[in-house]
Amino acid sequence: MEVIISRTYDDLSKLAARMIAEQVKHKPNSVLGLATGSTPIGTYGELIRMHKHEGLDFSKVVTFNLDEYVGLPPTHPQSYRYFMDEYLFNHVNIPKTNIHVPYGHAESILDFCQWYEAQIVGYGGIDIQLLGIGGDGHIAFNEPGSSLGSRTRLKTLTRQTIEDNARFFDKPEQVPCFAITMGVGTILEARKIIMLANGPKKADIVAEAIEGPISAQVTASALQLHRDVVVLVDDDAGAKLKRADYYKWVYEQKTKLLPGLIGRGT
Ligand code: GLP
Repeated sequence: MEVIISRTYDDLSKLAARMIAEQVKHKPNSVLGLATGSTPIGTYGELIRMHKHEGLDFSKVVTFNLDEYVGLPPTHPQSYRYFMDEYLFNHVNIPKTNIHVPYGHAESILDFCQWYEAQIVGYGGIDIQLLGIGGDGHIAFNEPGSSLGSRTRLKTLTRQTIEDNARFFDKPEQVPCFAITMGVGTILEARKIIMLANGPKKADIVAEAIEGPISAQVTASALQLHRDVVVLVDDDAGAKLKRADYYKWVYEQKTKLLPGLIGRGT
């Protein structure tokens, strides 16, 4: 795992966007795995800036989002599809037909989940997967206890997740209690993973996920098994990391001696 501690949220967002931009330049038809939540908003903003001012071209890019609430139509302002339109899709040139967000209104969720997995495989798998981390250590909506081999499926959200996400809704009762989510196993098949975390609220769970034992109780800890993961945190979210000094030292040495290897998961 490569852990990069940035001074600010802005620095973290720029670094994540740069890694995604490099991937897209290197392989214009890259398959991107995308996340929602407040954490990646800065990264999307930077990608939009690169598209508008530096000509970053998304015309061949394919995207798969991690998750979606069950029962919210894509037009609902709190649906993840709506979020993605607002913060990214409406501002860059990804063809609409290349965009995949789980459909929370699917008639058969089981069939839909199988179809979604098959689509990912059909496009050759995910090249780079962006992730945030939930307050209970979940990635996507893989709540504590999710199998580390799980695939795209229906998941019941924990009360903590419902409370955490209630800030986006008028009333907590409006937060759906079910979601369709890529599984931990699905996520681990991405060729590269970038996990982002910022703010003091994430400090404990980031330390547990990165430096604690691998456990289905903290599904983000499964990332320790992946061969190419970059964890980007700001100072606040990295505050409880025991090896923070080492991570900073690695970054300094690479910046001086091997700048091309920053973010290469080594
Ligand atoms: C939701 C999403 C996750 C996201 C998490 C954290 O639960 N399903 O993908 O990582 O929220 O959100 P935030 O970035 O707002 O802290």
